[in-house]
Amino acid sequence: MIEQPTVDRVIEAAQSRIVDIVSDFVSLRKRGVNYIGNCPFHNEKTPSFSVSPTKGIFKCFGCGKAGNAVHFLMEHEQLSWLEAIKMLGKKFGIPIEEKVLTPEDLIQQSERESMMIVTEFASKYFSRMLYESDEGISVGLGYFRKRGFRDDIIKKFELGYSPAQKDALTKEAQKNGYKIEFLEKTGLAIVGDNYTADRFRERVMFPIHNLTGKVIAFGGRIMKSDAKTAKYLNSPESEIYHKSRILYGIYQARQEIIRQDRVLLVEGYTDVLSFHQAGIANVVASSGTSLTVDQIRLMARFSPNITIIYDGDTAGIKASLRGIDLVLEEGMNVKVLLLPDGEDPDSFAQKTGGDALRDYIQQNETDFIKFKTSLLLDESKNDPIKRAQLIQDIVRSIATIPDHIMRSVYIKECSALMRVDEPVLYNEIKKIDEKRKEKDATRTFVRTQPDVPATDTSTAPVFTITNPFETEEREIMRYLISYGEHPLGEIDTEQGRKAVSVGEYIVSELKSDDLKSLNPVHNQVLQLYEEHADDPDFVASKFFINHSDTEVSRLASNLLAHKHTLSKIHKRTGIVKETEELLVDIVPRVVIELKWKMVKVRFEQCCRRLKKSEEEKDDAAMLLLMQEMLRLQNALKVISLQQGERTIIY
Ligand code: CTP
Ligand code: MN
Repeated sequence: MIEQPTVDRVIEAAQSRIVDIVSDFVSLRKRGVNYIGNCPFHNEKTPSFSVSPTKGIFKCFGCGKAGNAVHFLMEHEQLSWLEAIKMLGKKFGIPIEEKVLTPEDLIQQSERESMMIVTEFASKYFSRMLYESDEGISVGLGYFRKRGFRDDIIKKFELGYSPAQKDALTKEAQKNGYKIEFLEKTGLAIVGDNYTADRFRERVMFPIHNLTGKVIAFGGRIMKSDAKTAKYLNSPESEIYHKSRILYGIYQARQEIIRQDRVLLVEGYTDVLSFHQAGIANVVASSGTSLTVDQIRLMARFSPNITIIYDGDTAGIKASLRGIDLVLEEGMNVKVLLLPDGEDPDSFAQKTGGDALRDYIQQNETDFIKFKTSLLLDESKNDPIKRAQLIQDIVRSIATIPDHIMRSVYIKECSALMRVDEPVLYNEIKKIDEKRKEKDATRTFVRTQPDVPATDTSTAPVFTITNPFETEEREIMRYLISYGEHPLGEIDTEQGRKAVSVGEYIVSELKSDDLKSLNPVHNQVLQLYEEHADDPDFVASKFFINHSDTEVSRLASNLLAHKHTLSKIHKRTGIVKETEELLVDIVPRVVIELKWKMVKVRFEQCCRRLKKSEEEKDDAAMLLLMQEMLRLQNALKVISLQQGERTIIY
């Protein structure tokens, strides 16, 4: 951990020199007060990536990525927040003193570090054995060459060889001062009562890297085809290796996934290698485990588009089907590609080469509806029951998609393919939705897409929100973050007229539990404002942009990049009013707009429920609902009056 004042100094320096920092990676040129260039996060020919030295933020108007200098580094170099701070410290010559850690911290940290270090040592050892030992050259390197892997690929993936001798690595490591404890904890050595042996013997070695390129585990393959042991042996779960959270090849693929805006998912180590060798580098493998939610989220950090490429055998089909719904549920777009029977991605890539492989993928990847349909349509053609089951199956998949626009696209397709009317499908989905809501009444919030400002239609949302008040809330967040500490003017309170700031006003208006947002980031911003607004020198925009929580500062960067509301009003009215004079009109109005919408939505809900209880002849429920509706109607009246009181200036 780093002391807060040091962090502040680094962030301050980073903010004022953001152009410097970004220029290390992107060629920028000046345009007006800002700098522009080609976005490093997506493919583009005309620059839509903009850096504002005055605000200390970057924003791409093409793909929606935005943030401060720290986020730029985190995103571009795939660093953690701490790593980015350290890197900036180095750049600006600010010495980073780490805070004194508690003894438990130290033990934990040093244990993990020791495990990483010994793993690193093992990786170097295996690759030395591959290139320098007679056994490694003839057996290991010979094997890779026979399988057709080029040297640059063997180097790129730091492949290695583990000798046949029962404790070759363990001996060598101990000779170099590494403790047996950490060899055992990483699973590299197996320690019994009166023997010690290497886990991996006489195997070619595939190191598994984490996102920052450090080796955290290994897969080892035997070379004989007749052996009785498992073909692949993997490192066990450990403090540094959680199988379900990592994907093989993610480190080598991450930049290309971003550039192509698509990730290809295959099954095995050699599949990844052969794709790279064929010039297709946006590929990762789930390494024999069935795909997990964490792995999907890992991919989603780089692109929302995924193509699952599995073998065409039954196991491959099964795995694809299971993967599809999981991926859909995470809001990603999924395509599926089955290879011809008998081929796996490795053999297919080696056979066809890069160009043909790319064509094949493009021509044969299908969306999940076509995939499911083509799998089952033949056998269900003349069987109405099977056909109904297939439709149900597809509908269930569609219902897992959080985004409603995406849903409607698929419904259209399903309707055409299966010859079912769209309303029928919508109805089925509604049933599934309702069942799910009953089951999980509290979990309405699915996923935020904080990168997309409400007023910005240039970037289509990838993930959608089920927060019906997102637009109104974002407007309020915009004023809180842009003008939080500005005086709003005098406001009537219970204690008489009182001067309040924009932030104080918003926080006090939205504090009640009734008005809690479904978007946790919005709630967090309000909470943070309350906690920190009293700090001397508090400036809301600076505070939120530089906040260490990525979601918070992303939201801030995005909203500030669109800080045009006031100037627009200036233009339209032709009257240049002081910011303060405008704020006192606008801020209360955006708050009222939110409240009005909330009451309206609740009123509509009541209407629907009333109809239902009428049908069910539930008199008691009807009475309650009508009372509630009366109350809401009064609230609407009050709010409308308040709206009228404000001089509307545009
Ligand atoms: N796997 C494993 N343990 C096994 C078999 C497979 O961990 N006993 C994992 C490996 O990550 C492997 C992936 O599952 O890469 C796919 O398995 P498979 O298709 O059998 O292997 P291939 O990748 O085709 O390996 P190879 O081409 O070397 O035979
Ligand atoms: Mn294979």
